[in-house]
Amino acid sequence: MRFIPIAGEFAAEVEGIDLCAPLDAAAVAGIHAGMDRHAVLVFHDQPLTDEQQIAFTRNLGKIELNTANNVTRLDQRRLSIEMSDISNLDQHSNMLARDDRRRAFNLGNRLWHSDSSFKSVSAKYSLLSARIIPSAGGNTEFADMRAAYDALDPETKAEIEDLITEHSLLFSRGQLGFTDFTAEERVKFAPVRHRLVRTNPTTGRKSLFLSSHIGGIVGWPVPEAMAFVRDLAERATQRQFVYAHTWRQHDLVMWDNRQTMHRARRYKETSEVRDMRRTTLEGDGPTTLQMAVA
Ligand code: OGA
Ligand code: MN
Repeated sequence: MRFIPIAGEFAAEVEGIDLCAPLDAAAVAGIHAGMDRHAVLVFHDQPLTDEQQIAFTRNLGKIELNTANNVTRLDQRRLSIEMSDISNLDQHSNMLARDDRRRAFNLGNRLWHSDSSFKSVSAKYSLLSARIIPSAGGNTEFADMRAAYDALDPETKAEIEDLITEHSLLFSRGQLGFTDFTAEERVKFAPVRHRLVRTNPTTGRKSLFLSSHIGGIVGWPVPEAMAFVRDLAERATQRQFVYAHTWRQHDLVMWDNRQTMHRARRYKETSEVRDMRRTTLEGDGPTTLQMAVA
């Protein structure tokens, strides 16, 4: 396995590994070490089936089931419960209509976020496999929350060290004006709490834990919190911290949600198919239990 750094050291292309085949322990350790160093790994030419993608993901840790993440009902699902459907397709593989409620909800992916930060145990890695890509557009952008943290001034670092934020899908969708949630969805998507600064348990590096799912800071007036969080997010997503991935069919891109944010870019969503399938690794535990590292 070889790692070829891109975007500084933030991302890397990985060569010399076949993700369709079972991995040995050395390959698994190599991938984890690569993720701690780079935070985004790009594997080209990996024509995975769903079963192979799920098996590869399980090699790396506990898979997160896609249960309470979406407004898509069980009988509307196109993919198995181990996969998040990041396509513009319905359960019959037809393109979602422009005004489809599921499409409106999925547009939240256009906002910078960290996957499953709306859960009390948020995601560790996400693995996104490109099965069908549009003729133009549809890049995915990644921002390095370690570099963004490092670039903060000492006063800001001290101020945010122990802040706790509240995250919910209601907040991120609300930013786009999607607010017609059912009573059941409001319960399912109730806010959870996370540290604003988190520490990678292996490397000891700190990162900013930002996400569009944030709707407040505990103990702060909401507008003041949101203005501050927006300011931090603007600083953290400046071009020098961003890697923009232009997809090729059969790419698999893996990112560390603890150390990055990402967002989807536009494409012709109602006239071209983009079939992307995500598997997700569960995080180690609530960030609120993580001790600050001196
Ligand atoms: C995701 C996601 C962005 C994209 O898979 O979690 O946000 O470009 N994807 O589809
Ligand atoms: Mn995402």
